[in-house]
Amino acid sequence: MDLEKLLTDRLVPAFATVAGEPVDPVVRRSQRADFQSDAALALARRLGRPPRVIAAEVLRHAELADLCSVAELSGPGFLNLTVSDATLTRLVSALAVSSRLGVPVVAAPETVVVDYSAPNVAKEMHVGHLRSTVIGDAAARLLEWLGHRVLRANHLGDWGTPFGMLIEHLADLGGADAAQELSMGDLDSFYKTARAKFDGDEAFRERSRRRVVALQGGDEATLRLWRLLVEQSERYFLTVYDLLDVTLTERDFHGESSYNDLLGAVVEDLDRLGLLRESEGAACVFPPGCAGRDGEPLPLIVRKSDGGYGYPATDLAAIRHRTATLGATRLLYVVGLPQRRHFEMVYAVAAQAGWLTPPARAEHVGFGSILGPDGRMLRSRAGGSVKLVGLLEEAIARATALARQRNPELGEAEAAEVGRAVGIGAIKYADLSSDRHRDYVLDWEGMLSLDGNTAPYLQYAYSRIQSIFRRAGVAACPEAGISLAEPAERALAFELLGFARVVDEVAVNLEFHRLAGYLYRLAATFSTFYERCPVLRTDGPVRESRLVLCDLTARVLRQGLHVLGIRTPERM
Ligand code: ARG
Repeated sequence: MDLEKLLTDRLVPAFATVAGEPVDPVVRRSQRADFQSDAALALARRLGRPPRVIAAEVLRHAELADLCSVAELSGPGFLNLTVSDATLTRLVSALAVSSRLGVPVVAAPETVVVDYSAPNVAKEMHVGHLRSTVIGDAAARLLEWLGHRVLRANHLGDWGTPFGMLIEHLADLGGADAAQELSMGDLDSFYKTARAKFDGDEAFRERSRRRVVALQGGDEATLRLWRLLVEQSERYFLTVYDLLDVTLTERDFHGESSYNDLLGAVVEDLDRLGLLRESEGAACVFPPGCAGRDGEPLPLIVRKSDGGYGYPATDLAAIRHRTATLGATRLLYVVGLPQRRHFEMVYAVAAQAGWLTPPARAEHVGFGSILGPDGRMLRSRAGGSVKLVGLLEEAIARATALARQRNPELGEAEAAEVGRAVGIGAIKYADLSSDRHRDYVLDWEGMLSLDGNTAPYLQYAYSRIQSIFRRAGVAACPEAGISLAEPAERALAFELLGFARVVDEVAVNLEFHRLAGYLYRLAATFSTFYERCPVLRTDGPVRESRLVLCDLTARVLRQGLHVLGIRTPERM
């Protein structure tokens, strides 16, 4: 159903014949015709022949008659392709009856581990975890929809030296009081108080150190306190996921501590493979190709000088577990860009050790920071890091107020429902619609606006189409004949047919702003169509056909937003 692909498949053999080598015809949507191929231009220099001559020859060899009404040479050597009405209506008709909107289930499903969210126990989730959670969840949803076996891994920070002070503080507070504080989600004050005691009180510091030893030694009373911390934090994180409409569940918590039993074997095996070197008392691996700014090789510390294991060793154990035990071939790590070096080194060591070998591969799905309106790292008014829940509640409150104001007919319950869908949708969409490699600025007005590339705009477009059907009390008949006489109808048809291609591409590069951009173009193209082509005010086959276009647009918007983890209210 993918037109670019259909046309490309016809041009590839023609180009190969003319060039004597495989050539990508680079078929693109174009202003001049429906599609354009400009590959002859790049080829001209290599073949030492004028591009127009090459293009003309390709045209003679290409079998396009059944797909195109016009295929012609233009300009310095472009091929302009106009798709025939018959082809277009055939494809749209097939799309209309496709329950998956032209997106096939993958032929070779993989086991994919998506490592995302990963907040730290007894610490507030901050906005960096928000990005990981939102992007990771979109990845999990998308790959699952495509038929892959997706394993969500919430690599909770639940181990390490800070737990000495946290457990000591917990013991000081007494179980009941601590549970109360933690279940309120008051993780920040819990952590800060522990920290302050640690910094200011020598005796507390000493107790904390002994606590770490007891924890590592498996002391039962200490473990009980530790478990309380973990459980309360997990419970709190689950309420955030629920608020965020994120698909992570309690089964997906695989904290750092769950790899503890594997760490010894990891380091032993690295040693056996001759990869370990001692550096300042620590056991390190110097993976090839990883050097610091000064050109010196960088060490990955797998066992610290005090004999403890840290974050890198845990990640090595996790990779090995994910490939060898879980059978995963694609490992995604949705973690901020500052950790890029860490992952490069971990992947390199895992590859050296034979724990990450093709077809298995790991990808760091990195992302930039969220900035405040002043263009600096987002900070609370008090200067601390912004509490995620506060951010989400503010989004919901703002969106609910706007919903009430815009549509006074909405009842209380429905306004609250819409406010939640729009507020949470706006936050997620602001994140997913910007290039994840860059920082983005949190802008309330912008993200909640009904114009522009925003969740509310897309949600509104969806609900408006639903209201067309509601008002007229009709439904689209997917089997109805399609007619695409108007340019605005053709334009909409092309957008609808482009869904599968975008989905395919995003499944590879996990650049969700491309899916967002597509949905935005689709909604805008629909809007032009709806202005120019009356739907309910016509009748007969034209009306039937337009109802199908409306319905298809709504279905693609809903599915696309669903992949992004964004709800589509029927009314707004
Ligand atoms: N807990 C870590 C943090 O807050 C993120 C963990 C990412 N995942 C991983 N496998 N290292 O920075």
